[in-house]
Amino acid sequence: MKFNTKTIHGGQEHDPAYGSVMPPIYQTTTYAQSTPGGHKGYEYSRTHNPTRTALEKAFASIENGNYGLTFGSGMAAIDAIIKLLKPGDEVISTNDLYGGSYRLFTKVYTDFGIKFHFIGMQNASKIEDYINDRTKLIWVETPTNPMMNIIDIKATAAIAKKHNILFAVDNTFATPYLQLPLDLGADIVMHSATKYLGGHSDVVMGALVVNDKNLAERLYFLQNASGAVSGPQDCFLVLRGIKTLHIRMQRHCENGKAVAEFLASHPKIEKVYWPGFEDHPNHDIAKSQMSDFGGMVSFVPKGSNFEDAVKIVENLKVFTLAESLGGVESLSGHPASMTHASIPKEEREKTGVVDSLIRLSVGIEDEEDLIDDLKQALK
Ligand SMILES: Cc1ncc(COP(=O)(O)O)c(C=O)c1O
Repeated sequence: MKFNTKTIHGGQEHDPAYGSVMPPIYQTTTYAQSTPGGHKGYEYSRTHNPTRTALEKAFASIENGNYGLTFGSGMAAIDAIIKLLKPGDEVISTNDLYGGSYRLFTKVYTDFGIKFHFIGMQNASKIEDYINDRTKLIWVETPTNPMMNIIDIKATAAIAKKHNILFAVDNTFATPYLQLPLDLGADIVMHSATKYLGGHSDVVMGALVVNDKNLAERLYFLQNASGAVSGPQDCFLVLRGIKTLHIRMQRHCENGKAVAEFLASHPKIEKVYWPGFEDHPNHDIAKSQMSDFGGMVSFVPKGSNFEDAVKIVENLKVFTLAESLGGVESLSGHPASMTHASIPKEEREKTGVVDSLIRLSVGIEDEEDLIDDLKQALK
């Protein structure tokens, strides 16, 4: 199946009971057994649930993987990956990443004896300088949140393989419509399905997809043992969201390009971060590993400070000022005070997340309305 067919049919079968085209929402905690152990494959809904199974199969299908797992949030999915590690293990991570991931790594797992190195990975060969016998995981976001840096997945995968290190990619910004990390050599692909996969700003959920059976079994064990699972109603909603992923993403990309180009030509704008620009430092890598450039755009207005940036986001009307991204509606965000507030200012600013940076999640509204909204807010 091609991708646009997989979003609708991948891993899916009509429900055996009545042939319902969408899987029923199995709103149940448990399943009748005829004799102890005599069940139809489902015993307890933390472990398995048929609606969740349908979604997990859909995830595996669209990411070209063998096994899918869903969690109660993107953070719970990342948490399961870090629980594969032991005290003394080391992780190499992109230095520009979602603030919540940084917080989990530094404020939770550092206390469990895991050491994190946050480094710029725009030049993949630099990663090797940080590898030692204790390195067990390379963690990459690409494009990064919010600076839109691009990391070379293939080159990083080759380094990870050479040193026998697990390699995980947070594919939240790109989605499998644009980029397939497992095909490029990653071991684990992770999603905040809260974003483009759900697509309608109505569900918080996380997901993992892997190819390796052993790795899948360890993760299924952790999913059940720790219990941060997604509920059946939410699974139904994300399954519905995935069915239109390809057409939503196409419009997100078109509108993202229009917004990035408008901002780049605006006299009041200092800098626009969007991987589609030819002068983006890793534009060629973006072009080779992504099929388009997505709907996320960050920018810095000329000579502005914290207060000016806040004024701009307050002035926007079609773009709603809110946390999150990837829904059909356009959102604006001020990373320094919102999504990335958990990263200390000195650390943030090293990677470009200055007080005046504004991040846009460009939605699928009419392009002209989005541009007009930005025009009036920047007046
Ligand atoms: C790139 C990225 N990864 C992970 C997460 C965490 O996902 P969730 O909010 O679903 O826990 C987010 C949330 O914004 C994100 O943007």
